[in-house]
Amino acid sequence: MDHELFSEERSAEVVAASFASAPPRLRELLTSLVTHLHAFVKETGLTAQEWEQGIAFLTAAGHKCDDVRQEFILLSDVLGVSMLVETINHRTAGGSTESTVTGPFHVVASPSRALGDSISLDGKGEPCLVTGQVTGPDGEPVPGASVDVWQASADGFYDVQQPGIQPERNLRGLFTVDADGRFWFNTIVPRYYPIPDDGPVGGMLHAAGRHPFRPAHVHFIVTAPGHQTVTTHLFVAGSPYIDSDAVFGVKESLVRSFPLVNDPARAAEHGLPNPFRTVHFDVRLLRAQDAPAPAGD
Ligand code: BEZ
Ligand code: FE
Repeated sequence: MDHELFSEERSAEVVAASFASAPPRLRELLTSLVTHLHAFVKETGLTAQEWEQGIAFLTAAGHKCDDVRQEFILLSDVLGVSMLVETINHRTAGGSTESTVTGPFHVVASPSRALGDSISLDGKGEPCLVTGQVTGPDGEPVPGASVDVWQASADGFYDVQQPGIQPERNLRGLFTVDADGRFWFNTIVPRYYPIPDDGPVGGMLHAAGRHPFRPAHVHFIVTAPGHQTVTTHLFVAGSPYIDSDAVFGVKESLVRSFPLVNDPARAAEHGLPNPFRTVHFDVRLLRAQDAPAPAGD
């Protein structure tokens, strides 16, 4: 391949030209990547020592990865790239519940539960009744929808982080909504927690003076035949870090208050101690055929 010789001035163009024969989308991605990377090096006047440090950081991130730990996704999360990819690929135009990141803790399948069951297997934490309805874009109920939920404990840990301490599958459940699209289950109020920060990404946050915490939330994946899946969170209003989520996952439309209810009859009906917390979270799905075009189309 003949190409123009490398120069500082035309470095990006010279390298981009080397991808001229790549398939169109690959060429587009690599050309843009090279253009932005070269601009970054020039704009910052990157030193050889800083470049070496960057390579060492990426090498350490790779070494930290295994079957259950993905340090590069964590890096993408704390740089806001995961949320950006999620957001531009799930533009809702107000028609459906907003989405947010999946995170690394959906590593085991949630056990099937009946409506009204508790997902708290150890009973530790502040009891809470979660209710909601799955609807389509016009507010019509979506019977048959599946609601997959998982959350951290009152101490801020997922079951998979505390084998032998929490029961397996604690605070996870897979529900099928009723004929009106409604779901309800018992749980406990989750706590805020730090993302895994014992690796190079944690080191970067520390060096930059950033904290690793996420505000309290419950994860949801809602699926239904003929509809687009929504992967999202229900955030606890007033939680510490609600305005400074380490992975930028908070969207205002997903924040709910969890009021304390004093209602002995309702507590008895749901098998909860009185008083108890409640939260209501409706999930609206777009129809499959109404998928908005992703960015760049
Ligand atoms: C989570 O919410 O489970 C999560 C998301 C991104 C990084 C770490 C954890
Ligand atoms: Fe989480």
